[in-house]
Amino acid sequence: MIGRDHERDAAARFLDRVPDGPVGLVIEGEAGIGKTTVWLEALREARARGYRALKAGPAEGERDLSFAALADLLGDAMADVADALPQPQRDALDAALLRRSADESVDPRTTGTGVVSVLTTLAVERPVFVAIDDAQWLDRASERALEFAARRLPNRFGIVVARRSDGDSPAPLGLDRALPADAIEHLVLGPLSLAALHHLVERAGLRLSRPMLARVTEVSGGERLLRPRDRSRCRRRDNRGWPG
Ligand SMILES: Nc1ncnc2c1ncn2[C@@H]1O[C@H](COP(=O)(O)OP(=O)(O)OP(=O)(O)O)[C@@H](O)[C@H]1O
Ligand SMILES: [Mg+2]
Repeated sequence: MIGRDHERDAAARFLDRVPDGPVGLVIEGEAGIGKTTVWLEALREARARGYRALKAGPAEGERDLSFAALADLLGDAMADVADALPQPQRDALDAALLRRSADESVDPRTTGTGVVSVLTTLAVERPVFVAIDDAQWLDRASERALEFAARRLPNRFGIVVARRSDGDSPAPLGLDRALPADAIEHLVLGPLSLAALHHLVERAGLRLSRPMLARVTEVSGGERLLRPRDRSRCRRRDNRGWPG
């Protein structure tokens, strides 16, 4: 990741707090601004710290596929915790993850409780880090289960959610309401700095004249076009979802 020092620092501070969690980090910004890049960096660092990392990044076409994201998130972990789950929760998650056929429709509360149990069981061993990218494309069934779990998160837990947004909508998964105001941080990405853009162009093996670099900066919404309030910024919100 080139540049983004401010975001890197914010992510590191967030990761420091995971062992004392639950804590949340929301990464927002317009399409293509660099959210996944920052999100991946946080995920990589979480793994380097030895946290148990669970991740999901739904695609746009998966919005109508029930529990697609939850299956990605919990698929690997289920083998480690299945025996610790009460049978109804295990059955509900097995049905959601298509590991058994559901004879009747499963109560969403049982699925949500199962998600809480999985996270709580994993967090006994080491801090748990849940990373969700492109939250705007979460299928509704996964979203509901995760919203339920968000209000009942265990200690030693951190969740980072990236999504396309202008940064003014309420946090995904109801995290603003589920977590105390000082436990959730919003990182709203602006364009890369001119220096970082320059570095990026160089790394791509391109040699650009100054006018051409200025043009690249302009079309990518780069630094020169920015007013200070548009720059990449980090802020907290209160429980109602308004900037603090
Ligand atoms: N700081 C950076 N350093 C190096 N490459 C970057 C950086 N930021 C973004 N990129 C590159 O720019 C492209 C777009 O970035 P990225 O996928 O992170 O954007 P995004 O905001 O997640 O987009 P989308 O809204 O489509 O999900 C990618 O190829 C990525 O590798
Ligand atoms: Mg992305």
